[in-house]
Amino acid sequence: MTINLYYSDDALRVQALELASIVPDAQALLAHSKLDTEELYLLLNHQSLVIISPLFKPFNVYSFYQEFIAKRKPGLNREILLQAINLKIGVGDLLEVLDLTAGLGRDSILMALAGFNVTMLENNPYLAIVLNYLSINFHDQLKLTVQYINNREYLQKNSQKYHVIYFDPMFADGKNSLAKKDMQLIDLMIKSADNFSTANNEEVFNLARAHCLHKLVVKRDNKQQCVVSKPEPTYAKSGKTIRFDVYQSNLAKVCG
Ligand SMILES: C[S@@+](CC[C@H](N)C(=O)[O-])C[C@H]1O[C@@H](n2cnc3c(N)ncnc32)[C@H](O)[C@@H]1O
Repeated sequence: MTINLYYSDDALRVQALELASIVPDAQALLAHSKLDTEELYLLLNHQSLVIISPLFKPFNVYSFYQEFIAKRKPGLNREILLQAINLKIGVGDLLEVLDLTAGLGRDSILMALAGFNVTMLENNPYLAIVLNYLSINFHDQLKLTVQYINNREYLQKNSQKYHVIYFDPMFADGKNSLAKKDMQLIDLMIKSADNFSTANNEEVFNLARAHCLHKLVVKRDNKQQCVVSKPEPTYAKSGKTIRFDVYQSNLAKVCG
């Protein structure tokens, strides 16, 4: 399936090609005339990348990220995710985080705002382009990189270790721990791509453990069970509706 990224005028061609380059079968096209409003597509204009779909009003990606950062940055120490990770970053420390399921990248942004270097994995082509836009356009504030890949394949192919691995899996029951509107948008992008695969969360969890130096953090809805029956989390940090299960690793000691 070819993913189309349109750009509104020729001056944006190079930028559009760079954005699309993350997905091998994506193409950057000049938006000539009226585009098909029955389909989901991405449009790059001089203000933003915009997600256009028949179901939602145009979603301005730049404003979304700008507002998200402005709202969440001042209260970082109140973020439950960061309290769950609870690793202090000293001057000159380079702590690496792997986000296995980056989505719209909101949790990755929080971790990057806290000073972590975050590698985001995402296997949906639309979202991978959106995340590429995020990492390019906000690189002066956030150390984020993105790879368009299935997390299982990434964990099998790479030997790199990460201080923290973060996992926010999709749930089989269709419920999720994101705010409704954001999750609907993610759902729409997943349904519009043809590479949806049923996840084996337990397998991904076990693969991830072998790459994790300090903490593997799994996001759950408060009503949900842990992602695996064994081991039990070392500890958990709960908010009103969600919780983060934290599995401490002893790999750091082994690796020295
Ligand atoms: C619940 S959402 C994550 C939301 C994210 N934490 C955020 O802050 O926006 C899960 C994401 O994982 C992605 N995903 C699902 N299975 C995947 C896989 N096997 N490899 C990589 N990404 C995957 C989905 O496309 C979806 O965007």
